[in-house]
Amino acid sequence: MTTNKWKYIIDIAIFLGFLISMDPHSTGNSLHEWISTAAFAAAITHLLLSWQWIVETIRRTFTNMKTSVRISYTLNVLLFIAVTLVMFTGFMLSRDLLPVFGITVPENFAWRSLHDMTANLSLLLIGIHLALHWNWIVDTTQRFIIQPISRLRSENKEKVRA
Ligand code: HEM
Repeated sequence: MTTNKWKYIIDIAIFLGFLISMDPHSTGNSLHEWISTAAFAAAITHLLLSWQWIVETIRRTFTNMKTSVRISYTLNVLLFIAVTLVMFTGFMLSRDLLPVFGITVPENFAWRSLHDMTANLSLLLIGIHLALHWNWIVDTTQRFIIQPISRLRSENKEKVRA
């Protein structure tokens, strides 16, 4: 499978994982903790697959850089910080996942509001991130979903005619 196909599958998993994580009351707390941790692991894989872009952009940070790339880079850094904070505060609230590993964190109400705030901020930044990469999303959906389906449909039509 090509890197782009992997990226696409991983991105869908992160997106769904994040959306599900935004509503812990529907999933229950235990699923909330496990699904969001899995989505975070997928997000780290997403970063590793984009590593070349990250390194290249850091290398050019202090030299000539197009404004659009600078904006995208700044937003990505903010998104990384927000997601790291939502995960950190989530672990500080953990009632199901960390106890499995024998870790218990003393209760502190401040984590709860910080968790809620950083979750909302991450959601906003993910929306902007998706908007900035919209062309890639549309092109890749065309290539990996729409085109194979329409190819399959026209093959089936030809089979029926024959
Ligand atoms: C993608 C990452 C995450 C997102 C978007 C997210 C989002 C949220 C949201 C929106 C709430 C509800 C806040 C409220 O009702 O005021 C919440 C609550 C909570 N989250 Fe997360 N969370 C994430 C990761 C985590 C992680 C990794 C853990 C722990 C391992 C965790 C543990 C909790 C707990 C214990 C609550 C309180 C649930 C309750 O009292 O009903 N979260 N989270």
